[in-house]
Amino acid sequence: MRHAPKPDVKQDEALTVLGLESSCDETAASVLRRYADGRVEILSNIVASQDEEHRPFGGVVPEIAARAHMRKIEPILAKAVKSSGVSWDDLDGIAATAGPGLIGGVITGLMSAKGLAMALNKPLIAVNHLEGHALSPRLTEDCAFPYLLLLVSGGHSQLLSVTGLGEYERLGSTVDDAAGEAFDKTAKVMGLGFPGGPKVQSWAERGNPKAIKFPRPMKGRDHADFSFAGLKTAVARAWDASDKTDTAKADIAASFQRAMTDTMLDRVGRAITLYRNATGDTGRARLVVAGGVAANTELRAGLKTMAATRNFDFIAPPLKFCGDNAAMIALAGAERLAAGITDGYDAPARPRWPLDKDAAANAPKSGHGKKGPKS
Ligand code: KG4
Ligand code: ZN
Repeated sequence: MRHAPKPDVKQDEALTVLGLESSCDETAASVLRRYADGRVEILSNIVASQDEEHRPFGGVVPEIAARAHMRKIEPILAKAVKSSGVSWDDLDGIAATAGPGLIGGVITGLMSAKGLAMALNKPLIAVNHLEGHALSPRLTEDCAFPYLLLLVSGGHSQLLSVTGLGEYERLGSTVDDAAGEAFDKTAKVMGLGFPGGPKVQSWAERGNPKAIKFPRPMKGRDHADFSFAGLKTAVARAWDASDKTDTAKADIAASFQRAMTDTMLDRVGRAITLYRNATGDTGRARLVVAGGVAANTELRAGLKTMAATRNFDFIAPPLKFCGDNAAMIALAGAERLAAGITDGYDAPARPRWPLDKDAAANAPKSGHGKKGPKS
């Protein structure tokens, strides 16, 4: 096994990094330049969605995803480098998602990155996908550490205290389904299409959010965990009992979205208290939302209001950086490279890889729920 070169990082120089993302159903590549002062220039950002491939099944099919990644990764990464205007030699490092995610896709992206890094004799950075989401607000904003992060996507729902690169403390997480999963299942039950989040949101715009009284799981509890499974069941029951008209669809979508937003805001409110207690800081602080569900307009508006009332600045990435993308992976790679952290060419693909150190130490090898992949 050839050894990866140690990074030769001059702290005052800009770093140009190619990032690859393939952990779920987006094949993505991006070239990004990060300056020593933290400024970021996104030179290219290519995302090839597999929505068409998975639509007939109403959800992501791992085997189909793995094959699609294999077909798409090479042209996508070539396109990302070509359209960035830099040459292969200009790259200071190659970063790829190494987990958590669907293992077939993760292996495809990571192996491509390893092949490139070896051929070009460049450092490899094996990035935790969740760290990519956690750092995504720093792509476009001067979002300094520390901050409180609500990370809500199709596979994860967590509240984290982010105090530095690689320093994450979990304040709460889902005990069952992820937030995006609840949106996707709601859409599937009513046949609204895939992916579910944006479909539910657009149907909700035409409905009455008070039409159906859905539960607010965990509301008022003194921890910051989430639960969404009961809500999903309640939606299925409401749909069964409805007359299946467009009005019923819109009302269920609006009532469900309101219940999701209320629940998430209640949990964030609790996490703010935990965060304040942990840091002992009562001054102006930062609240960040990231992940695919961060694209939800009602959630963003609710968080903005809550942040203002609790003395927090609210930061949300632009919509194109909420969902899976490779710019966030390239940024995590560049931040790691700047800190002198790289990985060997034998870095493993990890289907499960908790972000916070405590959970990483205690994580079981398989399972769902509180300590499982969805948390
Ligand atoms: O971050 P992401 O692209 O992939 C994962 O890492 O899981 O998140 C995808 C999830 C899907 O469940 C999708 O339905 C949800 O984000 N999503 C939304 C919206 N846009 C995407 N959920 C609610 N409202 C939206 N506007
Ligand atoms: Zn993601």
